Amino acid sequence: MTPPVTLRAFTLQDAGVVASWALDPAFVALAGWSCRTAAEHREHQRRLVSRSARFPGWERLAATTPGLGVVGYLDLAAGPDATEVGYAVGPSARWGRGLGSAVLAAGVVEAGRRGLPALLALVSPAHARSRGVLRACGFTRVHAGADTETWRLGLGTKPVDESGPTLRR
Ligand SMILES: CC(C)(COP(=O)(O)OP(=O)(O)OC[C@H]1O[C@@H](n2cnc3c(N)ncnc32)[C@H](O)[C@@H]1OP(=O)(O)O)[C@@H](O)C(=O)NCCC(=O)NCCS
Repeated sequence: MTPPVTLRAFTLQDAGVVASWALDPAFVALAGWSCRTAAEHREHQRRLVSRSARFPGWERLAATTPGLGVVGYLDLAAGPDATEVGYAVGPSARWGRGLGSAVLAAGVVEAGRRGLPALLALVSPAHARSRGVLRACGFTRVHAGADTETWRLGLGTKPVDESGPTLRR
């Protein structure tokens, strides 16, 4: 069974955890991370912490589970009509157990709490795992480009279930 996922503010300490996923070739390949040294990744993640503070429309949240600590992150980037989400679970040994869907589902609940009208996600058509995450969280594909698909979830039409998402695992 998938452990419950909680979202909270992303900290400098979390930056170190996420940067360590740069040592995981499977994670780097699927996430499309550029080749940097571990130190460069750490610095990049640290910059994202201060970016959250400097740009009110952009935020990275840490995704935690009891016992495991930080297992992923959720990014929210405000757009004109919808908020774009990004998400990850690391390291790759944790994939395939429902955590990715749980992270995004927690993001959907958080977006509902914030009164956001809709969420958007951009994904490669070849990214089966990420498309599965989006489907599991109720997103539907609204645009299919050759390289990028756009998936959307409207939040205004139904009340968000504050008790949390119903996950299949
Ligand atoms: C995408 C990501 C968050 C998915 O995390 P996860 O913990 O594996 O997600 P889940 O366990 O909830 O599974 C998601 C889907 O992957 C499917 N899946 C499981 N194992 C799989 C495998 N070996 N190959 C392909 N898909 C697989 C699951 O069946 C599920 O799809 P379904 O709901 O249609 O059944 C994770 O792979 C990740 O962090 N990748 C790097 C960052 C990234 O790519 N982010 C998304 C950017 S668009």
